[in-house]
Amino acid sequence: MCGIAGYLGFRKAYPIVINGLQRLEYRGYDSAGVVLLDGNEMSLYKTKGKVSDLKKIMKQKNIDGNLALGHTRWATHGVPNDENSHPHLSNSGKLVIVHNGIIENYDTIKKELIIRGYTFKSDTDTEVLINLIEEVKIKNKCKLGEAVQMALSNVVGAYAIAVFDISKPDEIIVAKLGSPIAIGIGENNSEFFVASDASPFIEYTRNAIYLEDEELAIIKLGKEIRVRKIQDNAIVEPDIHQLKLNLEQIEKGGYDHFMLKEIHEQPDAILDAYRGRLLASKGIIKMGSVDNNIARFLNANRIVIVACGTSWHAGLVAEYLFEDLARISVEVEYASEFRYRNPIINKNDVVIAISQSGETADTLAAIKLAKSKGAFVFGVCNVVGSSIARETDTGAYTHAGPEIGVASTKAFTTQITVLALMALKLGNLKGELSNSRYHHYIHEMSLIPGKVEEVLKMDTEIEKIAAIYKDAPNCLYLGRGFNFPVALEGALKLKEISYIHAEGYPAAEMKHGPIALIDEHMPVIVIATRKGHYDKVVSNIQEIKARHGKIIAIVTKGDTIVREMADHVIEIPETEEAFTPLLSTIPLQLLSYYIAVMRGCNVDQPRNLAKSVTVE
Ligand code: AGP
Repeated sequence: MCGIAGYLGFRKAYPIVINGLQRLEYRGYDSAGVVLLDGNEMSLYKTKGKVSDLKKIMKQKNIDGNLALGHTRWATHGVPNDENSHPHLSNSGKLVIVHNGIIENYDTIKKELIIRGYTFKSDTDTEVLINLIEEVKIKNKCKLGEAVQMALSNVVGAYAIAVFDISKPDEIIVAKLGSPIAIGIGENNSEFFVASDASPFIEYTRNAIYLEDEELAIIKLGKEIRVRKIQDNAIVEPDIHQLKLNLEQIEKGGYDHFMLKEIHEQPDAILDAYRGRLLASKGIIKMGSVDNNIARFLNANRIVIVACGTSWHAGLVAEYLFEDLARISVEVEYASEFRYRNPIINKNDVVIAISQSGETADTLAAIKLAKSKGAFVFGVCNVVGSSIARETDTGAYTHAGPEIGVASTKAFTTQITVLALMALKLGNLKGELSNSRYHHYIHEMSLIPGKVEEVLKMDTEIEKIAAIYKDAPNCLYLGRGFNFPVALEGALKLKEISYIHAEGYPAAEMKHGPIALIDEHMPVIVIATRKGHYDKVVSNIQEIKARHGKIIAIVTKGDTIVREMADHVIEIPETEEAFTPLLSTIPLQLLSYYIAVMRGCNVDQPRNLAKSVTVE
């Protein structure tokens, strides 16, 4: 997820764009850049680091120009460095682009362009796109808008782009598929603003167009914006919205907190986590970093997973995934314990390190220890170019986009998504998973974003349950199998943002002690999915009821048995049991969120916590 800010009009463009980028830094902050056009005079500056670093560079530069495009990056292809920062130029230096999204087939296009003599300075998919546009423009001798339209018809992936030709200083082309882009419209079309959300221009105009998917807009100073469908050039009459949100609400996407926004981003985040990897139409899973090291995985006697916190819970889910689907033995270790335990690492072990931030000190230390003992280490990280991403031998990014809320939500579900893809792929390659089962799982995974959307619709119902239990002094979370780690994760969510003491347990473990805690004041959240040792969980619920415990049950849609026993029931859609954590965790995230809000806690920055624990 990156931030785009652009301006075309009668004002000096730079101050508007640089301030806009600062407001968009929540969307990405590993590098930033800006291009200014003063007449036909173009100047482009970009740097690894934050917008504030770019501002320092610009202090000594000429900042004239009434057209500018700026970008603050969340790296997906190409590590954060100056060269990979946006904006990017075409080979001729005449076309300029900023891009938010992922071009899945950029590698194929790049190879084709290299054959035609194009060269590339960066590792980004974006530089490929601007040269594809240039190639189409030259070959068809067409206008920039037509060239962009034709080029995008050959592109697979997600994008929000703004492009201009330095020989046309009064025009910007904007296009969208999958990533957001808003266009602010000034009085009498005397100025235009382009941005990933309205925060960069809200004080200049409240008239905005939000492009829909597969739409392209031609912005020309002094003229009405023309919007077309990319595929068939059909004219679109865009809705001009009168914006009511204030700046803070816009940055949070209209949600009250980043955490709630990120909970609701999970359908898109899970889609981005498998985008370009889960090829449902072909019934295959493609993961370069696994394919290129396949022998290590297929010959692995054991996978050792090291992580902390929520990432450690994702590791526990992965243990069930790899053992059930790929029949590979897995050991999950707290990184902080692993690093001091003098662990045994065998030469055929594969170590997987899981970390959202890629900067967790204990996980980083565990990786170094494992490598010193000769292990091959695979990273599952969200932050491209982070310390853990660079320390591991290879890895797979989760592409969740920046997670601003301290409590991990979309990081957790995207980690599980990536790990599930790995387990499925290895299971099929090892012959443990038949082709038909493999294809069934692939199809089912492609349905998960929609099923997460369905669970998110329970938002209001869950808020009502939260109101009943917001003052509970303690809480117990129970789950079995794939959902035992989800019980742990649900408990962590509640305690870290509402400060209520909560514990997660395997449901069967209750009789070995925790049942002593059960009374009418103890809410017990039980995950009772239909294929998850259901009868056993039902017995556990009966034991809790017999002791007057309050039951909040997460059940499979259509459940009739638990419904008769529980005090509250939250339904999740049917799916493969291995994928239920992707759904069952959502109500637990929302429950924790609403309880914390009702308790007046600082949800996005809970007390005593940091987003990344970079010290021991
Ligand atoms: C969970 O909500 C917390 N944010 C915390 O437990 C976190 O998961 C842990 O610190 C690990 O962070 P990492 O994934 O960035 O390594």
